[in-house]
Amino acid sequence: MDGCRCLSNVTASQKVHERYGGVVPELASRAHEKNIVPVVSAALKDAGIQPLDLDAVAFTRGPGLLGSLLVGVSFAKAFALALGKPIIEVDHLLGHISAHYIDDAAQRQPTFPFLCLLVSGGNSQIVHVRGPLEMTIIGRTIDDAAGEAFDKCAKVMGLGYPGGPVVDKLAKEGNPDAFHFAKPRVGHYDYSFSGLKTSFLYTLRDALPADPDFVPHHQADLCASLQRCVVELLMEQLLHAAKDLGIRRLAVAGGVSANSELRKAFNDLTPKGYDVYIPKFAYTTDNAAMIGAAAYHKFQAGLFCEQDVAPYSR
Ligand code: KG4
Repeated sequence: MDGCRCLSNVTASQKVHERYGGVVPELASRAHEKNIVPVVSAALKDAGIQPLDLDAVAFTRGPGLLGSLLVGVSFAKAFALALGKPIIEVDHLLGHISAHYIDDAAQRQPTFPFLCLLVSGGNSQIVHVRGPLEMTIIGRTIDDAAGEAFDKCAKVMGLGYPGGPVVDKLAKEGNPDAFHFAKPRVGHYDYSFSGLKTSFLYTLRDALPADPDFVPHHQADLCASLQRCVVELLMEQLLHAAKDLGIRRLAVAGGVSANSELRKAFNDLTPKGYDVYIPKFAYTTDNAAMIGAAAYHKFQAGLFCEQDVAPYSR
């Protein structure tokens, strides 16, 4: 990053998990170990800079899988130590929100305050953002995350991992009103997705005796109905919070913000007087640029850390 301008954003995706239907922590750590040096080298080469040109080295400290985090944290510390540069730790979720500050012609940057719906494979939160480093989580999931709901329902349909993008694609051909799943309502601005997942599972269980091919016969309708249900749940709580707090600037971040119906639900708010912010597709799922954007603000504030900093899983 040069300020909040992204000079290169190299991602190594891990195909290794597909055949297991979910992330296998040990395989994730090994893939990180294998990829980290080539990825950093490629990023520096793409940006056209030498390691000594860097002002600081930033890394994701957590939350996430500890084995993978250890690889990144240890690499960043060693790299910075060898170069004589300071290190900056970044929270993964702060990173997702900071994707909005990346200076890119393809996206608008929100002014403060705004509400950010942060939806990924491990988190579903509503965050009240008052500054680049000043925010409060006002709602969160009490069980599964939105991405997890997509992934787990896709798994029972045999659609592979990660399921979210497949559900999104198949839903385009389906009827969102074909099936109705439980939409649990929980307190304040919180979320709950485990009831929806169970209700999805029971729909399949009840239909399979009469039609063993129920899933392939109704795949598109199941995906469209599931997607509608998740998006409605997400938007209802967000709009509830927006109304109570009197905030009309709404942003979305995290892997699930790649979902086409969720993006449409945000865009549909513009004519209703809301100011909506949707990150460029490349900055929705996990990426280094968003960590760089968060680190830039910490750099400006002089928020460096020491070499004894440890990663956290939660
Ligand atoms: O933020 P992310 O890349 O990783 C973390 O969880 O931190 O998010 C991954 C999640 C997965 O659950 C994946 O299924 C979901 O984002 N996802 C989607 C779509 N693309 C990715 N969910 C629904 N529709 C999509 N198009």
